[in-house]
Amino acid sequence: MEVVIVAAPSEGARLVADAIVRLVRDQDEAVIGLATGSTPEGTYAELGLRVAGGSLDPDHVRGFLLDEYVGLPEGHPASYREVIRRQVVEPLGLHPARVCGPNGLADDLPLECRRYEAAIASAGGVDLQLLGIGTDGHIGFNEPGSSLSSRTRLKTLTASTRADNRRFFGEGDEVPSHVLTQGIGTILESSHLVLMAWGSEKAAAVAAAVEGPLRALVPASAIQLHPHATVVVDEGAAGSLELASYYREVWEAKPAWQGI
Ligand code: PGA
Repeated sequence: MEVVIVAAPSEGARLVADAIVRLVRDQDEAVIGLATGSTPEGTYAELGLRVAGGSLDPDHVRGFLLDEYVGLPEGHPASYREVIRRQVVEPLGLHPARVCGPNGLADDLPLECRRYEAAIASAGGVDLQLLGIGTDGHIGFNEPGSSLSSRTRLKTLTASTRADNRRFFGEGDEVPSHVLTQGIGTILESSHLVLMAWGSEKAAAVAAAVEGPLRALVPASAIQLHPHATVVVDEGAAGSLELASYYREVWEAKPAWQGI
């Protein structure tokens, strides 16, 4: 696993956008796993700049969302389909059909989860999966206790995640209790995992995921099983890492052209 400690989230966003631009340049088509929440917003803004500057062709990008709330009405501003429409599809000029997400309004949710898994597989899998991390150690919406080999399925959010996400909902609007999320086993099948975290409130979860034991109680610790995982953190989120000075040494010694 590579751990990159950056001075500010904007620097991390540029590094991650560079990796995506390289991937799209080197392959005919790149499939990006799209996370939501505050963490990837800078990366999406940076990708918009790359499209505007001509270094990223949106017609060569496909996207798959990590997760979605169950039961939010079509067009609800907090639904992840809408968030990705505002933050990725429109600013990058992606054709909407090139981005898929699990349908949290499907009549048959288990069938929808199987359909979503099949859609990812038929796209050839995810090349680069963007991930945030919850303060409780979740990735996607795989809450503590999730099977480390889980597939896309229905999950119940913890009270702490619902409280963390309260800020995305209007007054009087309930944060849904249920979600559809790619499983940890699904996420681990992508070719490159890029987990980002900003701020000291993420420090404990990052340290547990990167340096703690592999355990279902910290779903993000599953990234330790992945052959190509990159963790990009700012100083605050790196605050509890035991090997921080080693990670800095390794990164400083790496040729700049290699990127993450
Ligand atoms: P955040 O959420 O990016 O809004 O901090 C991350 C997550 O819950 O995975």
